[in-house]
Amino acid sequence: MSERDPATSVGVDHEKTGVGSVFVSNYPPYSFWGEDQRPRIEEVLDAPGAQDARLGLYIHIPFCRRRCKFCYFKVYTDKNARDVSAYVDAVVREVELYAARRVFAGRKLSFVYFGGGTPSFLSAKHLSDLVARVKQVFPWDAVEEVTFECEPGTLTRPKLETIRDVGVTRISLGVENFNDKILEDNGRAHVSREIYRVAPWIQELNFDQLNIDLISGMVGETWDTWKDSIRKTVEMDPDSVTIYQMELPFNTVYSRGVLDGGAVPVADWATKREWHAYAIEQLESAGYGVSSAYTMLKQDGRARFAYRDALWHGADLLGLGVSSFSHVGGVHFQNLSRWESYLETVGAGQFPVSRAYATSARERLTRELILQLKLGRVDLSYFSKKFGIDPQEEFADAFRRLTERGMLQVDRGVVTLSRTGLLQVDLLLPEFYAPEHQNARYT
Ligand SMILES: C[S@@+](CC[C@H](N)C(=O)[O-])C[C@H]1O[C@@H](n2cnc3c(N)ncnc32)[C@H](O)[C@@H]1O
Ligand code: SF4
Repeated sequence: MSERDPATSVGVDHEKTGVGSVFVSNYPPYSFWGEDQRPRIEEVLDAPGAQDARLGLYIHIPFCRRRCKFCYFKVYTDKNARDVSAYVDAVVREVELYAARRVFAGRKLSFVYFGGGTPSFLSAKHLSDLVARVKQVFPWDAVEEVTFECEPGTLTRPKLETIRDVGVTRISLGVENFNDKILEDNGRAHVSREIYRVAPWIQELNFDQLNIDLISGMVGETWDTWKDSIRKTVEMDPDSVTIYQMELPFNTVYSRGVLDGGAVPVADWATKREWHAYAIEQLESAGYGVSSAYTMLKQDGRARFAYRDALWHGADLLGLGVSSFSHVGGVHFQNLSRWESYLETVGAGQFPVSRAYATSARERLTRELILQLKLGRVDLSYFSKKFGIDPQEEFADAFRRLTERGMLQVDRGVVTLSRTGLLQVDLLLPEFYAPEHQNARYT
């Protein structure tokens, strides 16, 4: 999910689904990152890396068969096999440029995440080539989780075999909904039959984990269609289920319609939260537990999500590909988001970075705190140990206000969000922002 291309949170009406981003994926907000801070990347790349900080790789695959009407990610639907080859070459060149720098010397990757766009759009040949070349630069022998996002209609059994053989452990399947009319109306490229075609292959090939993505509040959703989708999700028996509440950032097809004066096609926030709450309850009865505001994990002791946990605990993440986000040694940076400039810059042997932000220790504390609050339960002693600051004192006002609103409680240094709080956690997090970051644009 680090490829979000968020729009602004200013002026979002929290009852109706207005145009604007709600989801908080990072801190400080992207509007504070700038070109002027790019030299800070050079500094951090030349410094020795923290040997105890976990390191992960995010590889952005920006291709899709069709653009979903609700989607705001950086994706292309017009690229051919030659373009994909050129992109694979650029990503490999990019990782080579980074691997030569001191900050990565002697460090092993703990996790890899292929996000999109649609990683499963890649042919088996392109994928094997990409992974083999990346592994030459950054071996995967210490990697504990490799996630690969898939759109059901792009998968064949031989392709899934390749995906497993290159080392993927966790398949994340973009199911979104099981109703064919809803899928079609929202511009999805897949149909429900394809979900059922690929599920047995995923099981037979023994991936460690299968995650299913759903969206609460696709256009056309009703209580009946949602209940049916949740029943079918439970029947599929995945290791985890991730549920996003539909939002309408500025650059989606639906948002353009609303901005042009059309009616809002998406259910209001209260309804989406009710649907989300229903899904959580049903999944709890089926043996899943709340692992974050979005993700339910099967309680069989096996299911986990290393990428998320590492990221939300301040791990270093090197993001490769057009528009991707990185966080290394306390410096945030984002890649160029235009295809041509990304390819040309990497081709010229330069880092394809558009903007950066060097965080202060205080901002890193806030970032980890708000991301971990999405887990629903946070032990504050972790922050006192890591940052030497007591968050309960430091954020006393925010905790008090949210406690008064029934969103959370703090007891003996442990914060627990209420179900109401968890279902709208992204709206609560700006309470913890520094005054200069309040009401900021989120882009
Ligand atoms: C990169 S996609 C997953 C892989 C693949 N591209 C697919 O869609 O099947 C990441 C996920 O973001 C979610 N998403 C995309 N746009 C959204 C929106 N406007 N509101 C909420 N969730 C959204 C969807 O659940 C989607 O599965
Ligand atoms: S397939 Fe996934 S990444 Fe592509 S447009 Fe649809 S939601 Fe976005």
